[in-house]
Amino acid sequence: MTESLPRISKAVIPAAGLGTRFLPATKATPKEMLPVVDKPAIQYVVEEAVAAGLDDVLMITGRNKRPLEDHFDRNYELEEALSKKGDQNRLAKVQESSDLATMHYVRQGDPRGLGHAVLCAAPHVGREPFAVLLGDDLIDPRDPLLARMVEVQEQHGGSVIALMEVEPDQIHLYGCAAVDAIGESDVVRVTGLVEKPEQADAPSNFAVIGRYVLDPGIFDVLRRTEPGRGGEIQITDALQQLVTGSGEGGPVHGVVFKGRRYDTGDRGDYLRAIVRLACEREDLGPEFRAWLRRYVTEEMQAP
Ligand code: G1P
Repeated sequence: MTESLPRISKAVIPAAGLGTRFLPATKATPKEMLPVVDKPAIQYVVEEAVAAGLDDVLMITGRNKRPLEDHFDRNYELEEALSKKGDQNRLAKVQESSDLATMHYVRQGDPRGLGHAVLCAAPHVGREPFAVLLGDDLIDPRDPLLARMVEVQEQHGGSVIALMEVEPDQIHLYGCAAVDAIGESDVVRVTGLVEKPEQADAPSNFAVIGRYVLDPGIFDVLRRTEPGRGGEIQITDALQQLVTGSGEGGPVHGVVFKGRRYDTGDRGDYLRAIVRLACEREDLGPEFRAWLRRYVTEEMQAP
């Protein structure tokens, strides 16, 4: 009898960053709590993990991140006030985030990079493959990416990263992958990885976006990974070692994503995400779209 593999159930969300691009908003509020329409950005990410069947969520936090823990916890005072008023609608909204997943938290301590943040998850994750979701990347729920990555990991083993083609002049903002086709339309074999290369040195225009399904062998590799770009321990450098076979945890495959992604770590993209998602909302959309249409017309007529 063949033993079936344990299903991937754990998601790790690094959330220890300082959010300096959004100062002063992030002086006393974690950037993950900034609202995208009326929900904090981090809730979309946890919902995405849960939608892919990963309901054990470990957040890697740091100083000043208490609001994250509070958001995914009960708020009895608020719940009582809303139920006294009979406001079931808002009560459901308050309870939604605390009922979503089993949440765990660990603090990173020293901010030594994304690779180091992922390494903080080792005791919790143990020996199972697990997912990593970066909070700055918001994937539209209608374009499921993580579930496909889990499927590819179960099929090929090893580790799986998410890739997206970007304009060549944007590649310096991302990890970049050299790839080989394997005869599947949305899956490639990764043959090399480099963190934020100059355009001239980039092996391709395949950017790594913030979703990973990793073999636990990555932890041993991360323990040996020296600080790289920016003096930080980079997950991209550890993955490169899996690609070259110098660590257990490979091979590395890439799922090529063609859906809607918003980089909520960038102010312009953050605003675009809000406008797009607000337009599509049943409750807010009709009125907001009508206003937006008038606004754009006026803007175009302006001298
Ligand atoms: C991180 C990773 C990078 C990846 C990016 C995706 O960079 O280091 O490889 O392409 O996330 O958003 P960061 O944006 O945190 O600097």
